[in-house]
Parts: sequence; C-alpha cells; structure tokens
Amino acid sequence: MRGSEAVRPSSAGRDRRRDVIRPPIDHTISEMTLSEKIGQMTQVSNESITPAEVSDHAIGSVLSGGNGNPEPNTPEVWSDMVGSYAEAATRTRLGVPLLYGVDAVHGHSNVGGATVFPHNIGLGAAGDDELVLRIGEATAAEMLATGVGWAFAPTIAVPQDIRWGRTYEGYGRDPSLVSAMGAALITGLQRSEPGRPRALACAKHFVGDGATSWGTAPRFDFVDWWDGWGDGWQIDQGDARISEVELRSIHLRPYIAAIQAGVMTVMASYNSWNGAKLHAHRGLLTDVLKGELGFAGFVVSDWMGVDQIDPSYGTGVATAINAGIDMVMVPDEYRRFIAAMTEAVTTGLIPMSRIDDAVRRILRAKTAAGLFADGLERPPLEVIGSADHRALAAEAVRRSAVLLKNDGALPIAPVVDSLRIAGEAADDIGLQCGGWTVGWQGGTGRTTSGTTLLEGLQALGHADVAFEPAGRFVDAARADLGIVCIAERPYAEGPGDCAAPDASEADRKVFAKMRRDCEKLVLVIYSGRPLAVADLIEQADAVVAAWLPGSEAGALADVLTGRFPFEAHTSQPWPGSLEDLGQPEAPPLYPTGHGLHTAQVAMTAEQSPAGAARTAVER
Ligand code: GLC
Repeated sequence: MRGSEAVRPSSAGRDRRRDVIRPPIDHTISEMTLSEKIGQMTQVSNESITPAEVSDHAIGSVLSGGNGNPEPNTPEVWSDMVGSYAEAATRTRLGVPLLYGVDAVHGHSNVGGATVFPHNIGLGAAGDDELVLRIGEATAAEMLATGVGWAFAPTIAVPQDIRWGRTYEGYGRDPSLVSAMGAALITGLQRSEPGRPRALACAKHFVGDGATSWGTAPRFDFVDWWDGWGDGWQIDQGDARISEVELRSIHLRPYIAAIQAGVMTVMASYNSWNGAKLHAHRGLLTDVLKGELGFAGFVVSDWMGVDQIDPSYGTGVATAINAGIDMVMVPDEYRRFIAAMTEAVTTGLIPMSRIDDAVRRILRAKTAAGLFADGLERPPLEVIGSADHRALAAEAVRRSAVLLKNDGALPIAPVVDSLRIAGEAADDIGLQCGGWTVGWQGGTGRTTSGTTLLEGLQALGHADVAFEPAGRFVDAARADLGIVCIAERPYAEGPGDCAAPDASEADRKVFAKMRRDCEKLVLVIYSGRPLAVADLIEQADAVVAAWLPGSEAGALADVLTGRFPFEAHTSQPWPGSLEDLGQPEAPPLYPTGHGLHTAQVAMTAEQSPAGAARTAVER
C-alpha cells in the first residue's frame, strides 16, 4: 500500500489526500513485515508516545484515556493533536492510517465544550432506542470533527449489583433493554454518510463485567493500581461466579444484538468468569465471540488488561493474543510490548496465522471507517456543543428523569410566592455530569459548559428563586416550596465501588434543614445508581431520580414545572435499605420499571415559552 499525503485537516474539517490506489487487505498483509504487523496490533496512550514515535514504530492506534486531554482542552487543540498522530502514520512505509480512540461514553465528553448526554442508566430509564440512536449520531459527529474515529462505547454490561462503580455505564438490569439500547447506539455511532468518515463503536466489556461478586476484585501483587482508592475496587474487575446458562441468557445477549447491529470492535473485560480471566479466555473470545457469534471485527484489550494475566509479561502477552485479543491497549510501555510480541512470534509461541488474522480484522475495521478512502470531509468543529446537540441532550434529560413519588408538590406552578432551592448540586456542572467527563473521575464546579437545574428554573420565569447551597436562607419565614438537590460525588470504575450507596452527611443536613423550613419539599437526586435513601423519600413530598443528566441538566426544570411530562421508568430496582444491597431476594422500595407519569400542564401563552397546552392529569 503506497503512502498518501494526508494534510492536517483545516478548521473547515476538510481532510484531502492525493488519490492513491488501495490494494485489497490480504495483499497489504502479504507486503507487511512482522514489525509492521505488530505495530497495527499496538495501541498506545497519547501521554506515552509522540507522533514521530508513531511513525518510527508504525503504530496502528493511539488513544486518549480518561485523562488524556490536550491542554488547553479545546476542540481546536484536540483536532491538532489527533491530526498530528494521523499525519505521522501516513509517513510510514505503507502509510496504513491510524485509528484514534476515546471514551465517548456519553458524548465526546473528554473535550471541553462538547455536548454531554445523560449517562446510560438515565437513557435506560428513558428506554427509547430512537433517542439513543440520535445521541450516537450526534456523538459521532462531534468525535469526527476532532478527527477521532473510534468510541469505546457502548458499555453493554447488565449490572446486577448497584454497589458497582460502573452501574451508571450500564443501561439497566434487563438484558433486553440493554440489547436494544446498545444496538441503537452502535447504529447511530457507526451510521455512514456519503463523503464522510465513519466512526467505529466498541461493545464492552466482553463478557460478564456486570455479574461480578462483591469482594472478588483482584489484588495482583505484580500490578499496583489498587492502592489509595479507599473502599474502591471491591467488585469492579472481580469474578463472575455464575453458570454458563446465566452468562449466556443475561450477559452475552447484548453482544448478539451488537453484532447484528454491525459493531466493528469489542473490548475484552477485566473480570474473570469462575476464576478464569476474560483477557485469557480463548473459549469465550474466540470460540464463542468470533466462532459461534460470527464477530468479524477486532477485539481490543482493556487498559493494561494483558498485564493482569501472568507475572511474566511475555507469557501474558502470548496468552492474550492466542486467546483472541487482536489489539492491545498497552497503553504506556509499548516498546516492551513490541519486544514481547516479536519474541513470541519468532519462537513460535504465537503462530503467524494468528497475527495475520488479527491484522486482517484491524484493517477490515479501518476500511469500514473510511480511513483508506480519499477526499472525505469531516464535520466542522462548530458541531461540537452545537445548539441542536444541546437540544437533543435536553430532550434526553427530560425523558430520563424518573418521578419516584409525588404527593402533589409537582408540577411547580408558574408563580410561587416563595420558592427556594438548596444543595450545591443544583448549580454544579461537574456533579450533574458524573465520571468520564473532561477527566476520568469527573470533577466538580464549572468543568465544562452547560446549564444547571438552577439556571433552568431561572430561565423558565422563576428568576426570583432563592438559592443557598447549604439551605441557610436569611428569610426566617417558611417557604411555600423547596427543592433540594443531592448528588453522589463523581467517580468512574473501581473507585466508585461502594458498600453503602447513600446520601452524604452534608446532603442529609441540607435536606433536614429544608424539610423544616418548607411547606412542600421536592427531592432531586443526581446519582449513578439508586441510593438507599428511603428515609428521605418518606419525608419528601415529591422525589425525582435524575441520574447523571449531563451538561443540559437545566432541562429538568421543564419536567418539574410540567412543561413536559414525566414518562421514564427506573432501569434498576431501588433498595429499601442498605441491608437489601447484594440481596437479590430483598423486596425493593421501588421495582425495576417504576415511574409515575404526568402530562403536560395547561399553560397560558405567556406562562409557557414551550407553548405546551394540555390539561394536567395524574395517571
Ligand atoms: C478503562 C476502562 C475502559 C476504557 C479504557 C480506556 O480502564 O475499563 O472502559 O475504555 O480504560 O480509557
């Protein structure tokens, strides 16, 4: 394959290449040296390799992990960074284009100013695959505008224990729901449009990541990333101690739907199944996924997932590749990986046929992404955080909010004599977005652009709403109506494992103060999972589970005021107490599928900017 002259995409997003003739994949493989083949199987973090080194080693893929943002973190700088790696790949002997991957798990959420959609647990509550498909399309457009062609999404885990720090990355407890939502996101992300590159999705984490048991998270003494995380890493990456029937009927099912939707990549899971690491599991990675299910794309390892297989790194590498891993997310010590691979192939530990199969799968996916095509036009940078995408995110926020309880406090009337709102989360973009947002673990404060619940209420005419994060209002008189917004601190993966998902002490104090000071009290919860707050739910007059709504949480004001109806249903059971957690037989406070419906409230023209006009009925 001859190299092509790829110029850095201009801000208008045009990415021109000189016309070149591309031979078929097998001919390309026949031309490749062993080091070029190994290069295609190597994925390196942008924090550990320069563009020049990408050229030197013919590296096939670079990723930005959760913290892999350029500084400043702007779409323009992202486009330049990704473009520099893409350009470097064209300067290799064969010029095989580079595939750049990110965790665009709820929008292109690493990038400052990108649209951040609700996390999957909220989309599962909305339960609308057409909405999720549109979110996939919008996410792909924002990714491609920066030159990023590969999203490590969707997570199609089926979380069974809400103490898991990745519960919110799953659409819900029902494998049919997860299958439908995962397939929809893949279809949206990978939608091809003439003249435009195509993004690739990644179904993850194969298989059984949501089935692990509490307390089984591994502690490999030869891999130290567990320390200093508090009570984290208890269930994440643990052991799924379940039968094959349960594995197939619950956790494998979404992969069948993902493959039918045409997913081109799958990420192997850190977890084990009955003590056997998935990254080393030939039976599941090759015999089931590629053989029985006919998956024709490629399997990528997880971050340092290969390192966990064996105290001997070389043994782990050979085991993983022979089990069916096609590309390794090294992601840092790539020279060590290349050396281990070279040793394993030259000594016959890994047969060349396995290498060729892996490279063929990778080149097939790169072809499907349009990377070898010429003259494709990327979306312009202006799509990132565009009004249309933010409107879509606002729709998703409204559609994912679950009304758990309403004793008449909702909808909020257009005019309220004294309306108060408390809880720092009511005006904190970081808390409303959660993990995997700008940073791996997320953050607090104005971490990116968007609208908060407070701003949403103010925009709907409640400009006089009094906001005090701690609930300490100067006016000693009781308020007619109070809203208190509580939130989990942001987290991602094992650091989010929690034995007792509950409201924080600080939030409980704010709630108690507001309960004393307000006639009617509405509780709004930002969380990556149901929380054991039955006592607060009991005391509140209305309760809304908003999950992790993303950058456009201001749209919650639309449903709180009745401009739009509540229609969502919780996709996980809501525990009655902390003792219920991990006890599948314990009766929940609210079962999966719970959610009160309301309808749009009749409004006069001046009251309802949205122009909604229907009579309110409680169904
Ligand atoms: C992480 C996650 C995986 C993510 C990858 C790259 O450890 O397990 O979901 O895609 O690393 O950030």
